[in-house]
Amino acid sequence: MTATEKKGTDLLYALLAEARTYSDVIVMGRGDPDFDTPAHIVAAARQAMVQHGADYSPPEGILPLRQAIAERVARRNGITVDPEQEVVVTNGGQEALFLMVVASVGAGEAMLVPEPNYNTYNDSLRFARAEKIGVPTRVDQQFRVDPEQMRVAITPKTRAMLLVSPNNPSAGVVGRADQEALVAIAREHNLTIIADDIYDLFVYDGIEHVSSAAIPGAHERTLTLNALSKSFSMTGWRIGWITGPAHLMQRVRKLKAAVSGPNSIVAQHAALAALTSSYAAVEMMRDTYSKRRKIVLDGLAAMGIPAGNPQGGQFVFADISHTGYNSIELAKHMLTNAHVLVYPGAAFATGWENYIRITFLQPEDKLRDALQRMQRAMESLPARSGQGA
Ligand SMILES: Cc1ncc(COP(=O)(O)O)c(C=O)c1O
Repeated sequence: MTATEKKGTDLLYALLAEARTYSDVIVMGRGDPDFDTPAHIVAAARQAMVQHGADYSPPEGILPLRQAIAERVARRNGITVDPEQEVVVTNGGQEALFLMVVASVGAGEAMLVPEPNYNTYNDSLRFARAEKIGVPTRVDQQFRVDPEQMRVAITPKTRAMLLVSPNNPSAGVVGRADQEALVAIAREHNLTIIADDIYDLFVYDGIEHVSSAAIPGAHERTLTLNALSKSFSMTGWRIGWITGPAHLMQRVRKLKAAVSGPNSIVAQHAALAALTSSYAAVEMMRDTYSKRRKIVLDGLAAMGIPAGNPQGGQFVFADISHTGYNSIELAKHMLTNAHVLVYPGAAFATGWENYIRITFLQPEDKLRDALQRMQRAMESLPARSGQGA
């Protein structure tokens, strides 16, 4: 099977594998931050290797880390949780999202999923044998999640609602009024809210990040994910967490114990250092991403590619329908001819075949180089009439 015949996560991995064969490739596909993990976090891990390497932790994580997480979500998100009962440390955001989905929906049940959407939610739903009810968002509305559209999509089988804000891949942010309306709908229909806050510290242009669980009346039905992967440039350390009400977290804790047991004790001590010291590195990264986002948006505008105005996250989701090529064809063309990896929208959900996702996790000079290469590749694209498939 060639890269272009694969789908979803498999398609992305196939493109990534091809990208590795080009020595001068510029990767603007997967979300790997280009910054190193801050040195004080690495130092804490070194110390933990010597002092704690032989220790298991409880499956839900060491208590000081759960306390630091409770402190972090209280201060940054306005979410109040009990570190003893309402926090579980996970292997990155990825395990957190799988546990949240499996804890909330089962066979024959359904979850509302605003689209486009981070594709492993779809994979997790398949494992849970649950149905996805896709609710599309639109580039000309900055990918807003419209509460009324969510409400009309609810069926008798619907048990949960997914809210990823800022969203991956669209970078859309759910504002306060919409969060309030969505929480009211969840209460009315007795739905669990699965809130993914992994990009909460990366919002731009003075936009406010609002956590679903901080809305009055939401706590009792909301599971919230976060992780250190993006915020502290710790993708490889695999530390994430879930917070939520004790009655839902009891199930999450049992699942975590069954799926993977406790996280690495070394990574947990590194995470504790991250959460209990300065956020200067996070702030530096946010300011840097904000500038890079502008470079990508300007480059795309020069190519005549509309991308809206992403409000958060680490990527731009751009509409390539005017090219007459679909996203897989265009991503392949960029990779082969420009040695630039972008992700095809088709990998995120059906209906997004005319979009590409471009991350800005490269230094400015590399981003400029990539955009120039992309522009040349666009010019060499044989003209095709009509819209992309
Ligand atoms: C929206 C979203 N949730 C969860 C994850 C998983 O995070 P992690 O890298 O910590 O496993 C990602 C990763 O890109 C993501 O974009």
